[in-house]
Amino acid sequence: MKTKNAASKILWPASAETAAVRAKHLLPLPGPMFAKPVQIVEGRMQFLYDENGREYLDAFAGVATVSIGHCHPHFVQALRAQIDLLQHNPPLYLHPAVGAFAKRLAAKAKAVNPDMEVCFFTNSGSEANEMAAMLAKAHTGRHEFIAVQRSYHGRTLMTVALTGQHAWRNLSPYPVGVSFTPADYAYRFDGTAEQSTKAAVKGLAELLKTGTSGKIAGFFAETILGVGGAITPGKSYFTEAVELVHRHGGLYVCDEVQTGVGRTGRHFFGIQHWGAKPDIIVMAKGLGNGYPIGAVITTPEIAASVKGLLHYNTFGGGPMAMAAANAVLDVVEGSDLADNAERVGARLMAGLEDAAAKSDKIGQVRGMGLMIGVELVKDKKTKEPAPELALAVVDRMKDHGVLVGKGGLEGSTVRIKPPLCLTAADADRVAEVFARSLQEAS
Ligand SMILES: Cc1ncc(COP(=O)(O)O)c(C=O)c1O
Repeated sequence: MKTKNAASKILWPASAETAAVRAKHLLPLPGPMFAKPVQIVEGRMQFLYDENGREYLDAFAGVATVSIGHCHPHFVQALRAQIDLLQHNPPLYLHPAVGAFAKRLAAKAKAVNPDMEVCFFTNSGSEANEMAAMLAKAHTGRHEFIAVQRSYHGRTLMTVALTGQHAWRNLSPYPVGVSFTPADYAYRFDGTAEQSTKAAVKGLAELLKTGTSGKIAGFFAETILGVGGAITPGKSYFTEAVELVHRHGGLYVCDEVQTGVGRTGRHFFGIQHWGAKPDIIVMAKGLGNGYPIGAVITTPEIAASVKGLLHYNTFGGGPMAMAAANAVLDVVEGSDLADNAERVGARLMAGLEDAAAKSDKIGQVRGMGLMIGVELVKDKKTKEPAPELALAVVDRMKDHGVLVGKGGLEGSTVRIKPPLCLTAADADRVAEVFARSLQEAS
């Protein structure tokens, strides 16, 4: 059956037809997010549209990926202009865009490490983390890494090895040499938030002594554990953890795949809220606003370690990706998106906190800016995770026209990560629809 989209006049297949074709011709995908699948065919800023022209407020941004907004006019114009000129240019030939953009991105990274100067571009966060691991090995001459329990770093062999969640480590074993340090997960720690941070840092110190040779190549950490359910470390966590890592000769690889580009509010990088100094920053997702891109940013000294080691990326730094990322930076720098994320995020968190005060099912509202998680529990006293409830809430919210995600090791956290152009009125709507959906689903 064909239906007509009110907005675009394009004839799209019905969602059931698309779902049937996908089930037959694509590898089985993770369990359905909604009881009845949603088909999205258009987007405008913070809104998405299905094949019938039904509008959804997008509060998940394609998993924290659409930063400046769907089909932002400046972004569309930049990509249209580039596609008329050249789509592909391998690293074998010069093109001015890649160096110019690297200079621009590295200038931003100087806010966290004044020595940042050099970039490498890939097509995804996984590939960028792979390059970060290669750099750390080449620079230190070592092969052991530490990652954080409940982390997510990608779907290549090395990045699965760095991922601390059993469901994502299926078909184990993965490359050896990665040990996991406890997350600073205050909600599930028996004590205060300060004690949780102290225990997490102590756990890292113990791990360095007992689970590694003490001579590590690097420490991989997201600033906020994204897929892990917006677990947000305490204020002193990163400065203390990174001091330990540096004392053991390792590099700190800061995974900003979800938290970069202003998502955590006020700053371009999430780590700026903690004041720790990364040796390597990894970006992806929001940097391309939906166009595939990954980036590694580091110092000239670390970058020099791969001199003479063959490596290559067919599409990384290509003119289309550079046009996309350049347009994203134009918008981020020319508007107050990061401040908006801070303001609107605080308002949304306050609305969710209001809901938490009235419900026995909301264990914790956490996050920063527009990187928010709401952990649902069977009851507040036992803190038993409530994954079925989280799934039901996500489904109800969709019925009410708001798209959010679900995650966390136990699958019990509702993840809210909208495009950064979300308005105050949108934030109020997300909080209201969340509270209503929770009530209906409980
Ligand atoms: C923190 C983090 N790192 C890395 C990745 C992997 O990025 P990609 O899916 O682009 O390979 C993800 C993806 O969700 C992520 O959330």
